[in-house]
Amino acid sequence: MSNAVSTQRSASDVINLALGHPSPELLPLAMVRRAAADRLSSGDRLVLQYGLEEGDHGFRTLLGQFLAREGATATPIAPEELFITAGISGALDLICTAQTQPGDTVAVEDPTYFLAHKIFRDHGLRIGTIPTDDRGAIPDEIAKVLATERPRLLYLIPAYQNPTGTTLIEERRRTIAELCREYGTLLVADEAYHLLGYESPPPPSFGIYAAEAPVMALGSFSKILGPGLRLGWVHAAPEHLRPLITSGLYDSGGGANPFAASVVRSVLELGLLAQHLRTLRANLAGRRDALHAALKDTLGPQCVPNRPDGGYFIWVRAPRAYDADALVAAAARHKVGIMPGSRCSPSGSFSDCLRVSFSYYEPPELRRGVQRLAAALESTG
Ligand SMILES: Cc1ncc(COP(=O)(O)O)c(C=O)c1O
Repeated sequence: MSNAVSTQRSASDVINLALGHPSPELLPLAMVRRAAADRLSSGDRLVLQYGLEEGDHGFRTLLGQFLAREGATATPIAPEELFITAGISGALDLICTAQTQPGDTVAVEDPTYFLAHKIFRDHGLRIGTIPTDDRGAIPDEIAKVLATERPRLLYLIPAYQNPTGTTLIEERRRTIAELCREYGTLLVADEAYHLLGYESPPPPSFGIYAAEAPVMALGSFSKILGPGLRLGWVHAAPEHLRPLITSGLYDSGGGANPFAASVVRSVLELGLLAQHLRTLRANLAGRRDALHAALKDTLGPQCVPNRPDGGYFIWVRAPRAYDADALVAAAARHKVGIMPGSRCSPSGSFSDCLRVSFSYYEPPELRRGVQRLAAALESTG
């Protein structure tokens, strides 16, 4: 299964709750049009030039200030600690290129973001798994894996995890950063949803440990502005950024998407993103509540949906195990898409779980989707 949207909504009567895309209604076209007009009217031809490998200095300065204002860090991040990427996917691929050899191990939460483990497999990495609970990855389990498997990378999704929706608590974060320092394992924190806390923000970004431990905090404009921009960042100590900045890819091509970056620079200069984020969070919180209520009311007491404090996903624990292909086929017959839990698990576990997303559809469609899901589950006997 890929992340492409093209065919997934084309049959308009299918409600695809597997989609991890923002709703088209939430993509701020007018705002981007205004920012692009502002940037292009400046007459600066360099927006069409190759970019600086690490990304435009002014853009990184504004981004570091913005992240602090949004509470991700206590103080503005210095531009030297930020590197602009083609989204988190681009960052993950580049980190694998720069930091790993085929046969190395990457330790991941089980379950995890299904397309991240695909990137790791593309690089010939062995996947080690870390058990989690409702407070995120378990430090004692991480310590065991670091000691026995000596992974090159530890990949975590600390805030509103994909797929479980859980957030790693603050005490565990410090312990995990210390463990990574002790074992020399590079911690790659995928913070795709960090700025999408609906009631309150999550603990600060893992980037706050970057000065004392081998930590890279990965952020993205995909979920807060638009995934088509293909723009994100890595926050890390300058010595950890150097291998990425000097990679062959960036040496040859210059910085990631300098044109998109110049438009987003205007979005930040005009102060438009903070207001957009407030609107987005309120809208997504309403969708989360609608999906959560529908799951609770429709699927019955044996199905247990979590209620995430942010992000895109609800993780549902069902009363029994399902064969992933059979479940997807049953759902397709009922014109609903879902992500079977086992597809999110490198070990093939969680066959009694499902991931459903509330980011793409409006509440009435979410409710209709859940009714179809109930019928599909029923039909599997
Ligand atoms: C946890 C996680 N990381 C990364 C991505 C992809 O991010 P980007 O669009 O910045 O490549 C997603 C998208 O669904 C995601 O859920």
